[in-house]
Amino acid sequence: MIIKDIKLSNFRCHKEYGLDFDTHTTQILGENGWGKTSVLEAIYLAVQGKSFKAVDREILRRGAEFYRVELSFLNGEKTTVVYDEGIAKKSFLITDKKWARLPKKNRYPVVLFEPADLSLITSSPTRRRDYFDRFLAQLFDEYNHSLSQYNKALKQRNELLKKEYVRQENLFPWNILLARYGVKIRMMRARLVANLNDSLTGVYRGIAENRDEVALKYDSYTGEALESEYLRLLEMDYNRDVLTGHTNFGIHKDDYIFLFNGVPADGTASRGEMRSVILALKFVEAEMLFEDLRRRPLVLLDDVFSELDDTRQKALVKNFQENQVILTSVK
Ligand SMILES: Nc1ncnc2c1ncn2[C@@H]1O[C@H](COP(=O)(O)OP(=O)(O)OP(=O)(O)O)[C@@H](O)[C@H]1O
Ligand SMILES: [Mg+2]
Repeated sequence: MIIKDIKLSNFRCHKEYGLDFDTHTTQILGENGWGKTSVLEAIYLAVQGKSFKAVDREILRRGAEFYRVELSFLNGEKTTVVYDEGIAKKSFLITDKKWARLPKKNRYPVVLFEPADLSLITSSPTRRRDYFDRFLAQLFDEYNHSLSQYNKALKQRNELLKKEYVRQENLFPWNILLARYGVKIRMMRARLVANLNDSLTGVYRGIAENRDEVALKYDSYTGEALESEYLRLLEMDYNRDVLTGHTNFGIHKDDYIFLFNGVPADGTASRGEMRSVILALKFVEAEMLFEDLRRRPLVLLDDVFSELDDTRQKALVKNFQENQVILTSVK
């Protein structure tokens, strides 16, 4: 899958904008605030079905009534995304057929590399969870579904807990859903981490040219509890949940810990080593997406190329030579 060109209307700061892509590498150069990240966001939206950072209302150019993204592929296919502020809905047009969601066969894998990813190891558990959630959602449809069911149930349960009085039995239907989807999500996360670990060290050594060992540890707040045990532990927290006004037990508290030679990388690995770890993670992600989806992922590099030193830049170019790469840099 190769993208050919993009046309934007009312997409963030772009009133009307168009760009042709090279089949291999395209560089988007612009000053800060020119709208480089927005172009990557539009591409991502057209191939993944949603933005990596915002909702439609925020994307819509201030004062405009609709936005449109038209992404054409080299094979003649075209995806058009239109958001209409009047009805607050977006639709996907694929060769004259209209969809409320981007159909699976029109979704293409993407490896996105943002500046914030460079500090993934030292940033918050929430960011790490979001990061791997996004990756898992590309790999498994079922993950997407389970996560949205889980989040809906969590929201409803938390709303009840914020009310003045809530009886334990009123929480029960939500507890059931949280336990069911919580366990599914945890299993998929654990499987992903095991798969990543199969190649992380090898790929890392290819970049850093040393014998260090890199691994990812999935640290679930829920331990290894299966559905009935999960439910029991969730229910045991009833009093605490009532006091704090939210759900304390669950996979929404999970974290991923990067290990460097067996100990947490945060606090031991150097800045450069952490960058190489992230780079290795991106390479492994690209490989896994290709293996699982049989499509070479599109690589979007937002402002990161210039952040890397010579060796890491070379590793990046070499690793992604088979992929179409779109990168942005500040002029
Ligand atoms: N909904 C919107 N309507 C109009 N302008 C917007 C909207 N959302 C964001 N902007 C503006 O669009 C501009 C472009 O943002 P973007 O992040 O794409 O720029 P950038 O070129 O990536 O900048 P940087 O080099 O700083 O990363 C910013 O000035 C931002 O304030
Ligand atoms: Mg930017």
